Amino acid sequence: MAATAKAPRIKALVAGNWKMNGLKASKKELAGLARRLAKGGRPACDVLVCPPATLVSLLKDEARGTRIAIGAQDCHAAASGAHTGDISAEMLKDAGAGFVIVGHSERRADHGETDAQVRAKAEAAWRAGLVAIVCIGETEAQRDAGETLKVIRSQLSGSLPKAATAKTTVIAYEPVWAIGTGRTPTSADVAKVHAAIRAALVKRYGAEGAAMRILYGGSVKPSNAAELMAVPNVNGALVGGASLKAEDFYGIISAYIKG
Ligand code: PGA
Repeated sequence: MAATAKAPRIKALVAGNWKMNGLKASKKELAGLARRLAKGGRPACDVLVCPPATLVSLLKDEARGTRIAIGAQDCHAAASGAHTGDISAEMLKDAGAGFVIVGHSERRADHGETDAQVRAKAEAAWRAGLVAIVCIGETEAQRDAGETLKVIRSQLSGSLPKAATAKTTVIAYEPVWAIGTGRTPTSADVAKVHAAIRAALVKRYGAEGAAMRILYGGSVKPSNAAELMAVPNVNGALVGGASLKAEDFYGIISAYIKG
């Protein structure tokens, strides 16, 4: 079954992760991005911006009538309750989000999030009607020890719920050592890891796994986007620093504009 799934056409996704950056005035960056998207050619990718939760509603309003979707960066597994300071997937949906990032390495490191918690968050995202962007990636020490593929497979099997489908779930491969450092793996390294992710997804989910988007993240910028996005099994990007400025983010999206 699974291994015979044919490779489908996958529409890429370029997603910006603003992390803990942005104030109300940052809506001008979204407006700038929308202007560039309206003027330039139509990109062969979906475009998503994930601001801090405080800006989801504002940016959703700003994005109305544009090609930009709005998402969030984390959610609690529960729908509501006594969890001071947390935000549920239902609240994010209510504020205008269509996607939520779960299991980003900064959450795994800063908040000790485990694969099991990430899995529960992905299920919470679906419960609320959000697409879950599930992040995985090896640390530099794991990479140096030759454990990259082992770590990736184990994070995938631990963080992805059984019921994942191509419509409800996006994978983001982000080598931890490449995030915010300006360093990126070679295209050959990215190809190897993405092929391993694809194989694991197809093995577990069959045709759904063959159709799931696998984003690359970690120091993607306008100057390296075209090369990274051309790697087999790379179906878009998760972009941190370079998503904060409309010009840079549009420069990355341009990798998907013909001409
Ligand atoms: P970066 O971050 O593009 O700033 O490296 C990527 C991410 O953490 O999603």
